[in-house]
Amino acid sequence: MKFHDPREIAFLNATVVTAGYIILFFFSAGILDPPLFAGFAMYGILLMTGGLLFAGTFFFFRYTVDKFIYSRIRLIYKSIYNVKAQKTDRQRFSSDRNILDRVEKEVAGWGEEKQKEIERLKQLEEYRKDFIGNLSHELKTPLFNVQGYVSTLLDGGLDDPKINKEYLRRTEVSVERLIKIVEDLGEITQLETGQMNLNKLRFDISALSREVVEMLEMKSKEHDIQVVINQPDKALWVYADREKIRQVLTNIIDNSFRYGLEKEGRTKISFFDMDENILVEITDNGVGIDQDDLPRVFERFYRTSRGREISNKGKGLGLAIVKHLIEAHNQTINVRSTVGVGTTFGFTLRKA
Ligand SMILES: Nc1ncnc2c1ncn2[C@@H]1O[C@H](COP(=O)(O)OP(=O)(O)OP(=O)(O)O)[C@@H](O)[C@H]1O
Ligand SMILES: [Mg+2]
Repeated sequence: MKFHDPREIAFLNATVVTAGYIILFFFSAGILDPPLFAGFAMYGILLMTGGLLFAGTFFFFRYTVDKFIYSRIRLIYKSIYNVKAQKTDRQRFSSDRNILDRVEKEVAGWGEEKQKEIERLKQLEEYRKDFIGNLSHELKTPLFNVQGYVSTLLDGGLDDPKINKEYLRRTEVSVERLIKIVEDLGEITQLETGQMNLNKLRFDISALSREVVEMLEMKSKEHDIQVVINQPDKALWVYADREKIRQVLTNIIDNSFRYGLEKEGRTKISFFDMDENILVEITDNGVGIDQDDLPRVFERFYRTSRGREISNKGKGLGLAIVKHLIEAHNQTINVRSTVGVGTTFGFTLRKA
């Protein structure tokens, strides 16, 4: 038998006690000679005393069971929610018809929630370990380089005109790289902790794309990449932080050069009208990204093996910043790619 409510238990107990009393009553009426009561008087007394007994037993059990359940539930609530049970809780619990079912469900739900939390924390822990491993790896290379050059210079290289200037220049490059890593990480941390304020305004994304392409002209020539903007003269108004979107475009276009084709490389920037948003797509005909790598390219320090082969300059932070910047605008970014054919990064911006 399953009880949902202290009232049901009290009712059953009161019924059993009253039934026992009635049996006893009739039994004693049968054996007493002459009987104490007879006829209507007997039934009247039975009804009255039986009724009183039923009500008394009902309320007694109701109160006792209620108190017992409440004391148990209070302990459960106390331990799972780490709270001090309030007086009002008792009223809340005792006026609830299916209190046991409800508590059972609540505890099961709480357990599930905790399990999910544990999984999430485990993932974060993995991520943290990876992150520290990657960070020390990324910092090690330029630091060891600096150490090597400085040691060589101190060991007499400083007086050797063939290497002294060159080694100092290389040291500078490594130090610059270290600074850039620390700056990028600082930016990511700011974005992750929500400390970055966006200065949103209305601007023409097509004009901004032209600016970025012009700014990267030297680089595109260096990589022999032709950059094309679809509908370059049509103004497309969006509402976003112009400087942050400039950084997004720069990072993605810079990648399209770095991982683009060595000869006849092409980067195309296109815009699509999507009701409330404008979709910006940057497509290249470069080396492409394996399907397994695709979901991971936005992770901090993640670089594909193909990417590493092509360039040792990358830090694997550019796209992590891009993703954070787009998400800070409550917009989305995605990537699709085919190895040997090319890659397309697409992100949305709110129309203005
Ligand atoms: N257009 C692309 N084509 C092919 N691979 C790409 C492309 N864009 C990114 N990748 C891959 O994704 C990785 C992550 O890119 P991301 O821009 O975050 O870092 P990065 O270019 O290596 O370094 P940096 O932090 O200097 O930008 C790259 O190392 C590369 O392997
Ligand atoms: Mg990059």
